[in-house]
Amino acid sequence: MSLEHIRDQIRQTTHEDEQLCVERLLAEKPVAEDSQQKAVSIARELVTQCRKQHNHEGTLEAFLHEFGLSNNEGVALMCLAEALLRIPDESTADKLITEKIQEGNWESHLGHSDSLFVNASIWGLMLTGKIYPPDIKPLEPQITDDTQGWLKNLGTRLGETVVRKAVLQAMRIMGSQYVLNSTIEKAIAENPLSGSTVDDSTSNKLFSFDMLGEGARTEKDALRYFEAYANAIDTIGQSNPSGDVYSANGISVKLSALYPRYEYSQRESVLSTLLPRIKKLALAAKHYSIGLSIDAEEARRLDLSLDIFESLAKDPDLAGWQGLGFVLQAYQKRAPLVAHWLIKLAEETERCLMVRLVKGAYWDAEIKYAQEQGMPDYPVFTRKVNTDLCYQHCAQLLLSAPKAIYPQFATHNAHTIALILTMAEKSKFEFQRLHGMGELLYQTLFQYLKQNQSAAPSVNTPPIRIPPIRIYAPIGQHRELLPYLVRRLLENGANSSFVNRFLDEKMPVESLIQNIESQVLKATPYRHKQIPVPSDLYYQDRTQRQNSPGIDLNNPTSVKPLLESMATAIQQPLTGCSIVGGKSHLKVPSLGEQSTDDLLPITSPSNRSKTIGYCRPANNEDIEEAFSLAHSAQPEWDALGGEQRAMLLNKMADALEQDMPTLMSTIVAEAGRTITDALAEVREAIDFCRYYAEQAIQHFSTPISLPGPTGEQNQLSLHGRGVFLCISPWNFPLAIFTGQIAAALAAGNTVIAKPASSTPLIATYAVRLFHKAGIPVNNLHLVVGSGKIASELMLTNKHLSGVVFTGSNETAKHIQQQLAQRPGAILPLIAETGGQNIMIADSTALPEQLVDDVIQSAF
Ligand code: FAD
Ligand code: 2OP
Repeated sequence: MSLEHIRDQIRQTTHEDEQLCVERLLAEKPVAEDSQQKAVSIARELVTQCRKQHNHEGTLEAFLHEFGLSNNEGVALMCLAEALLRIPDESTADKLITEKIQEGNWESHLGHSDSLFVNASIWGLMLTGKIYPPDIKPLEPQITDDTQGWLKNLGTRLGETVVRKAVLQAMRIMGSQYVLNSTIEKAIAENPLSGSTVDDSTSNKLFSFDMLGEGARTEKDALRYFEAYANAIDTIGQSNPSGDVYSANGISVKLSALYPRYEYSQRESVLSTLLPRIKKLALAAKHYSIGLSIDAEEARRLDLSLDIFESLAKDPDLAGWQGLGFVLQAYQKRAPLVAHWLIKLAEETERCLMVRLVKGAYWDAEIKYAQEQGMPDYPVFTRKVNTDLCYQHCAQLLLSAPKAIYPQFATHNAHTIALILTMAEKSKFEFQRLHGMGELLYQTLFQYLKQNQSAAPSVNTPPIRIPPIRIYAPIGQHRELLPYLVRRLLENGANSSFVNRFLDEKMPVESLIQNIESQVLKATPYRHKQIPVPSDLYYQDRTQRQNSPGIDLNNPTSVKPLLESMATAIQQPLTGCSIVGGKSHLKVPSLGEQSTDDLLPITSPSNRSKTIGYCRPANNEDIEEAFSLAHSAQPEWDALGGEQRAMLLNKMADALEQDMPTLMSTIVAEAGRTITDALAEVREAIDFCRYYAEQAIQHFSTPISLPGPTGEQNQLSLHGRGVFLCISPWNFPLAIFTGQIAAALAAGNTVIAKPASSTPLIATYAVRLFHKAGIPVNNLHLVVGSGKIASELMLTNKHLSGVVFTGSNETAKHIQQQLAQRPGAILPLIAETGGQNIMIADSTALPEQLVDDVIQSAF
């Protein structure tokens, strides 16, 4: 199979069904039974030894064990850790601390652990132990006596300054746990390499340095990170005495740090700008004969990272260098195919690639992202044991190609380590751990292997080779640490993590270390039952609706057909016109033909000289007729009941799904929105239809009980009010337009829809779709034209029963005044005004997150 062919398969399997995926993994060559048993026994020995040597947990370990992520207090403290060090002023810091500490039920943690520090003492002593003013020492006994009171009153009793310093100090302790040093120079000076073969994990440490910083949002940041990497490579390289990539310190690079638009939609600029940057770094690493690994980040970046990696691997300037490294995440369903691709690439380029096999650090984010984007499934497994199975499988693949791949197994799980030891036999490979994690485990492993070597070897059971153990060591300042810190806190705090549980004496060793295949087989279906596929997210107790489907805009397999369909759709001239009783009376000229007087050309907002369609504004008769037809049709529509109306709205949702590319291309052409925004808008329109269908069933299908004045129960049925005028804005020309209509129809009203004067084309398309989906033509009419039309001819119409409006305050007030002048009953006005969201960001916000929120939301 060619590289290109495997790439295709990788793309196809991004969101593969988990059941199929796991079945395939189970059917592949399993690890031999005796190796499995041997691995379990080595792992058991390692855990037992670790527990023996582990007199008491370190403060941070005990803290994370008790306060992990499974309780409110842990989450409150994690939030504090994440945000506190960004706050420049003392009073905001104090407020944040008070808020977070007040949130918790600290007492509930008392007595959970043997550690002196656990419960509030963990927290209290960790926070304050090092910086208590001497005269406040007597507080300590009270901490364990009255945790909650102690914490809550801490501020008042000690004064805010002390508490603030204490909490800040605690957060620094947390940060420093995971960062080796603030500069690469100091890190190298304090950890000199002897240059000898590395076989002692304690005295001669081998590193892959990571310059903190990722997800650059500006070119300035990207260049700063680039300089930091370039300088680090020089410093590491100059201290490489061996000239051998395997026994030299190396570097790990995050591509998202090197370019602010490291995303598939910017593929061309990624290849023209990011690729030369990483190539420069790779050339420097080659020059010094050190390893350079490309860290694995979010799954949506994988395809681009493979493009870049292939380019580097095939680059003649980098030929002969064996230090090019890739990080493979086993939690991704496509991992085995990526392993095949890497082997093939190494063979074709006649080099040996370094491949670090990890399980993956972004699991929570991947699940959330796939749900938000309405992906067909998740790119990652939903059960941890499936990830373990995939890791085992990928390890086998990598080990089976010793000439092509130098495997680097990165894990803090004793069972995974033991499995690798039994599978690897004589192969050349290394283990890797993160700085601040796994130290005890790897020391114990080292001792275990030493003992194993000194025991008299027999011909049948040769001693296990001691592999090098490399430490991934972040270097940098606290301000760049946060995303990394959060991943470590998640990893340490999650109760599915091996590190979170293996030192807990209450946890039987056997429950931590079990044969992977049999664990996988125990849980059917293989997908986690509580993590439904994104489309089923809203099938919960109270709601029963389908989530709108997204399109994977990071995958060429889905992007290519989408762009083709969008391009075809936009070749037809678009028409905007009033639709009254289903009729539009519009003869459309071909694009470029002379328009007649009452036919206005609609031009593209990105190029006003380009006509994309034509629109005929409504006249007085259209409006009169629309109101009269809608008025006559309303009683029957109301009598139809919620369920029937819901069925038609759901059909409209299906129709929107079906016409997604055409709708998107119309939104892009007429409103000048990006493809991503256009997709989000169509999805929102679909969700609105399904949501209001659900509401129609809940509120309009059966009578509801309401207490009367004397306490008696009255059965009431909800009904529509009559004819609603729906006036929508230009900035969400489909979503808000559809949402208003769907809501009014769901409630048993008939509708006259008036879109913004600048976006009649998408509105016309949507109304035709409503009719096609089965909404009777007399129940929904479209009136296109200026705001003046609405004001003069519609708000005064005698059949009007209510108005739904989204737009400016000024217009809303105008509508309100006009309605107030009408004779008769007061008409309801539902107005969503202002048109702009307000976001108040204080210094606790992560700037990168803030930028994303602004760009990706309605600002
Ligand atoms: P285990 O406890 O055995 O596994 C925990 C892992 O299982 C989680 O991290 C997650 O991947 C997976 N998991 C948890 N819950 C579920 C679930 N419900 N369904 C499916 N899977 C689940 N990670 C990266 O993403 N990119 C990198 O470049 C990277 N570099 C690393 C370098 C080194 C040296 C090391 C040690 C780690 C690196 N990691 C990287 C982090 C790594 O992904 C985590 O440390 C690792 O996943 C923890 O695995 P474990 O075997 O130690 O622990
Ligand atoms: C991370 O940054 C270690 O690369 C891994 O989480």
